[in-house]
Amino acid sequence: MKALDALLNRRSSPKLSDPLPPPAVLENIYKSALRAADHAVLRPWRFLVIKGASRERLGDLFVTAATLQDPAITAEKQLSLRQKPLRAPMILITISNPVPHPKVPEFEQDLSAAAAMQNMLLAAYAQGVGAMWRTGAMAYDQTVMRGLGLAAHEKIIGFLYLGTVGGAAKNLNDPPVDTFFKEWHP
Ligand SMILES: Cc1cc2nc3c(=O)[nH]c(=O)nc-3n(C[C@H](O)[C@H](O)[C@H](O)COP(=O)(O)O)c2cc1C
Repeated sequence: MKALDALLNRRSSPKLSDPLPPPAVLENIYKSALRAADHAVLRPWRFLVIKGASRERLGDLFVTAATLQDPAITAEKQLSLRQKPLRAPMILITISNPVPHPKVPEFEQDLSAAAAMQNMLLAAYAQGVGAMWRTGAMAYDQTVMRGLGLAAHEKIIGFLYLGTVGGAAKNLNDPPVDTFFKEWHP
């Protein structure tokens, strides 16, 4: 697929199933993350690959975290959390890992990690792989972050769910560009 076709047509796929993308396709997704715009080339990100039974362990971690937040959590809510990581055969967790720098504030380093996420969404779409960027309360939960081995200065930028597209592709309905792009007249 041409780059512009991917840029103009990328869409998320909430329904994802087996099989996993093949290794060469995944490698392109990984490499695209490393091409994110990155002030001072700090590479202020890292990624966790969650697949197979590790998805179940992640679901367990979500339940542990939510139970600590609310010991009265219902069994229904527990089940829902436990099943969240099973919505795709694979999840990439993008972690912002900012380093102290005199010219590059932490915010910019977080933005670079977000750019890595967007690159991966595009690389997935361009190769026919379904993808969806998700966060939710679990992305910001201290118990989850600790359980995943994040250091105190690190953040979860998102869970990138990846897999084979299920269901029909949704229609795009973007507003006209001039809604958002205005010439500045000083
Ligand atoms: C930082 C971030 C977090 C997101 N978290 C969620 C989420 O937890 N659940 C969700 O349904 N969509 C989430 N989204 C939105 C979807 O990934 C998706 O972009 C949105 O549904 C629009 O669809 P599209 O990508 O096909 O335009 C998030 C997007 C971003 C940028």
